[in-house]
Amino acid sequence: MAKLFATKPLSTIMAEATAEHEHSLKRCLGPVNLTTIGIGGIIGAGIFVLTGTAAAQFAGPAIVLSFIVAGIGCVFAGLCYAEFASMIPIAGSAYTYGYATMGELVAWIIGWALVLEYAFGAATVAVGWSGYVSSLLGYFGIKMPFNATPAVAFHLFGHTLSAHVDIFALTAIIVITTVLVVGVHESANFNSTAVMIKVSVVLMFIGIAMAYAFGHWNHMVVNWHPFIPKNNGHFGHFGLSGIMRGAGVVFFAYIGFDAVSTAAQEARNPQKDMPIGILGSLIICTVLYIIVSGLLTGLKPYTTLNVPAPVADGAAAIGEGWAIVLIDLGAIAGLASVMLVMLLGQSRVLYTMAHDGLFWKWAGKIHPRFRTPYITSIVVGSFAAFLAAFFSISFLGELVSLGTLLAFTIVCLGVWVMRRRQPGVKRPFRTPLVPLVPIGGMIVSVALMVSLDAPAWIGFGTWLIAGLIIYFTYSRKHSTVQRELAAKAERAAAGD
Ligand code: ALA
Repeated sequence: MAKLFATKPLSTIMAEATAEHEHSLKRCLGPVNLTTIGIGGIIGAGIFVLTGTAAAQFAGPAIVLSFIVAGIGCVFAGLCYAEFASMIPIAGSAYTYGYATMGELVAWIIGWALVLEYAFGAATVAVGWSGYVSSLLGYFGIKMPFNATPAVAFHLFGHTLSAHVDIFALTAIIVITTVLVVGVHESANFNSTAVMIKVSVVLMFIGIAMAYAFGHWNHMVVNWHPFIPKNNGHFGHFGLSGIMRGAGVVFFAYIGFDAVSTAAQEARNPQKDMPIGILGSLIICTVLYIIVSGLLTGLKPYTTLNVPAPVADGAAAIGEGWAIVLIDLGAIAGLASVMLVMLLGQSRVLYTMAHDGLFWKWAGKIHPRFRTPYITSIVVGSFAAFLAAFFSISFLGELVSLGTLLAFTIVCLGVWVMRRRQPGVKRPFRTPLVPLVPIGGMIVSVALMVSLDAPAWIGFGTWLIAGLIIYFTYSRKHSTVQRELAAKAERAAAGD
């Protein structure tokens, strides 16, 4: 039993990272680059699509409060991530933190939850991307014939999910996967450009919506009433439970700041700059999200926002036709960068797990010419393409939120555990008010998880069970840490 909780010593983790670092990663990222990486991973389908869905179905104009609740949870978790990232500045992120603090089984569960976050997350964003491509084509009067593909019905977890075969979403994942296999030498430049475009588009939306609001205040006020629509008798549909459910859904919009921690080995001064990158990107996006969601629900009645491209529709509603094209283009470029960050992140997590013997060796195989973990990229890319083609954005988004919230809960707990078990380790950044902040992070995360819907929970449970089967049938037997422990025990026995 004790072996399930075998930890990987910090010294080993750091030594491996240093050895690997000699051959691969250059330390060239400063605080601005790290913040940009964070924003690159954060702003995506959440704000551009799910804000509308969540306002229309769950929270109404109070979606602003949902963003505040989810933002508070993320700041707590972000403070905990910042302590870990400055203490263990290596690429494996929450998986590595879990391995160092709470042992192998917990690390496995976090790693598996991160695969869910990144692979299903890329699929979610692909569906959002497809919505904006259709919106752009629609603006020019082009309606794709395959959008009329008959719905495919799935009987899944007792629910009938019907879906179109979303060719745009499928194609997006295939193209990004190909880019990742061939190598992303220019990825940092691509990311900075995409971030610039999407932040400009968000600011432009805020600008035109504010200008409209000043001239048409009464129209806005009418749409903001009632600010918290009355609950319709079902948990999570308006009222207070609706705000929580909305927060669980728009939590997706914040996911991605944790991607900063995967760049720790490329940071010039990780101890100081990781916390700046994580918290800086998180705070900038929180402010933007609160403003955008407030304005959007003022421009259009919340009941009309359950559409594939609500932000572009918001601009259309106030007659700014030219802005639709810019918003569509910005969303298309911006969401592409999120898919790239996510699929890249997942290949790094599986690569690290394979390196530790916890996942099959093929996941750690590097292409001889392209120097990329090509097999894992292709396998996960194919899986994500399948999900993107057939499943709805709401189901995928909620599933991703569940997996990520679990990882956040464990990271918060980990900071607290580590403070008690290894108080002497150097912590260049210290989470303030421990254990209050970690406990706050855990409470908000669990509350958001509880607010999410049954199909997402069933999907999440299935994913976890599949993960545990792999752990107990494969990973445990091949774990490098377990083997070293066994060898040590044998040597000790022989010495006796
Ligand atoms: N936060 C990212 C998005 O909203 C995942 O697309």
